Amino acid sequence: MNKKAIITSALPYANGEIHLGHVASTYLPADVTTRFLKQNGVEAYYFCASDDFGTPILIQSEKERKTPAEYVEHWNKRDYEDFSSFDIDFDYFYKTSSPENIEFVQDVFKKLNAAGHIYEKEIIQFYCNNDKKFLPDRYVKGQCPYCDAEDQYSDLCERCGRVPEEIKNPVCSICGQTPTKEKTTHYFFKLKNFGDSLTKWLDENEHLQKDVKKYVQNWIKSGLIDWDITRDISWGVKIPLDDAHDKVFYGWFDNHLAYISTALKFFSDKGIDGKEFWNSSDIYHFIGKDIVYHHYLFLPAMRLGINSEYKLPDYIPTRGHLTLQSKKISKSRNWYIGLKEFLEYYPADYLRFYLVSINPYSQDDLNFDWDDFTTRINSELIGNLGNFVNRALGFTKKVFDGKVPQSESFDEKDSEIEIKIKNLASDIGSLMNENNLDRALKKILEFSSYLNQYFQHKEPWKNGPGTTNCVYLSVNAVRSIAIAIFPFMPKSAQKIWQQLGLDGNVSDSLWNEMSELRISTGHTLGDPSPLFDRVETSDIEKYKKHLGYSG
Ligand code: MF3
Ligand code: ZN
Repeated sequence: MNKKAIITSALPYANGEIHLGHVASTYLPADVTTRFLKQNGVEAYYFCASDDFGTPILIQSEKERKTPAEYVEHWNKRDYEDFSSFDIDFDYFYKTSSPENIEFVQDVFKKLNAAGHIYEKEIIQFYCNNDKKFLPDRYVKGQCPYCDAEDQYSDLCERCGRVPEEIKNPVCSICGQTPTKEKTTHYFFKLKNFGDSLTKWLDENEHLQKDVKKYVQNWIKSGLIDWDITRDISWGVKIPLDDAHDKVFYGWFDNHLAYISTALKFFSDKGIDGKEFWNSSDIYHFIGKDIVYHHYLFLPAMRLGINSEYKLPDYIPTRGHLTLQSKKISKSRNWYIGLKEFLEYYPADYLRFYLVSINPYSQDDLNFDWDDFTTRINSELIGNLGNFVNRALGFTKKVFDGKVPQSESFDEKDSEIEIKIKNLASDIGSLMNENNLDRALKKILEFSSYLNQYFQHKEPWKNGPGTTNCVYLSVNAVRSIAIAIFPFMPKSAQKIWQQLGLDGNVSDSLWNEMSELRISTGHTLGDPSPLFDRVETSDIEKYKKHLGYSG
């Protein structure tokens, strides 16, 4: 394992609240991974930023009669608050509109330009004579040329998912008038130049997901097209050329560069050489499958275009989308659950537990289902894990006054448990290393289920021979569980730590220490109490109604 790591997750648009779909596929898996790496002694940093530029944000800020800067400032703060209440623990959360990022983006552009990867081309764009504006992307609505769906934005048809070459019956989305076509000069990034070097990078990187890699390789084979990186709007990073003053970069040119500029800002504030750190780290970019094209082609091509001055990603963990009660999440149709709202109902750890459990390391979509949520929390988290912790600690408190008793020589069952504890760190750790977070969590549940059976079998309440072994091993297993669940459920892990009467924080323990039996005879526990409250079906019915579910 590399001793340094930089972890990022797709930057959220500063354009509306964070919902369960966002956290399920990127922020949560990245947070769990970062916590795990830190427990392994890796100097790991998790960076993120709000994605502030782009046409949709400009349009929305105009609607709300705010300046775009005020508008994104609001969402930058709000997003950060919501992430924090979900225990997404960024080492630094910044913004793509930061002076540092703007400067960095312009600098990268100049280098790409000097290296011959940029050219100018005159193109025809829609123009509104009424609003006196060029109309890129969402500024134009019309009919999809492929499937004839009405009322679609010019940059994406929501019905058939295609990017129209040219939308039919265009209207300006601000004033509704029919736009004219005008000539404008745009800058293009020669993505075509990078087919071979991208192929080589994909072939050589053994950490990228095989299935994603395959279809990206097919895109390259079927031919890359050069990329229009200019927008004729006022909100964005200005193109640093004399004759381009009224133009800005397309948001996807500048946003991913904030992964690097945010890291550089963080390190320079600490007096550390950020470039050195970046280039000697493992680089992780967590994303959802809708932005594969950008992260497997644009982003690496741009880094290659500046001679890999900043190394390319080692890992791009890519996951599917969350559906809600098996239907696609849609903000405009109000079919979503805001993170903030959910956390008013249940603690962060319930959601973290549930979303990791249903989220495999693959591109398959995952589904949030209220009934499944109820079952998993009540029977797995509470009935299995919570029950074992409470049973072991409660019994020790009651019968031994909270003092861990002297153990005797182990019988076969005791030795089996001892071995399980000793193997736990590597059993779960290997799954975590492969990014199989759901399977790792499942292993922890198997461990606690096994301990429940052991406890049941030993019947310590009868106070027969071997009772003290059962207590000693169970209390130590509880400690192992606390360390193991820390990346997934940091608050509950810390609660267990306190109930065990251990000093400091559970996060101070190294991952491998879960496999040591550190709690010895004579240790006094804290005060045990149930870790979790059950999810009540009557509440769930209420939430379902409130959020407008029929089923
Ligand atoms: N804001 C983009 C989205 O939500 C993601 C930006 S990721 C970055 O789709 F790489 F560009 F930073
Ligand atoms: Zn269409």
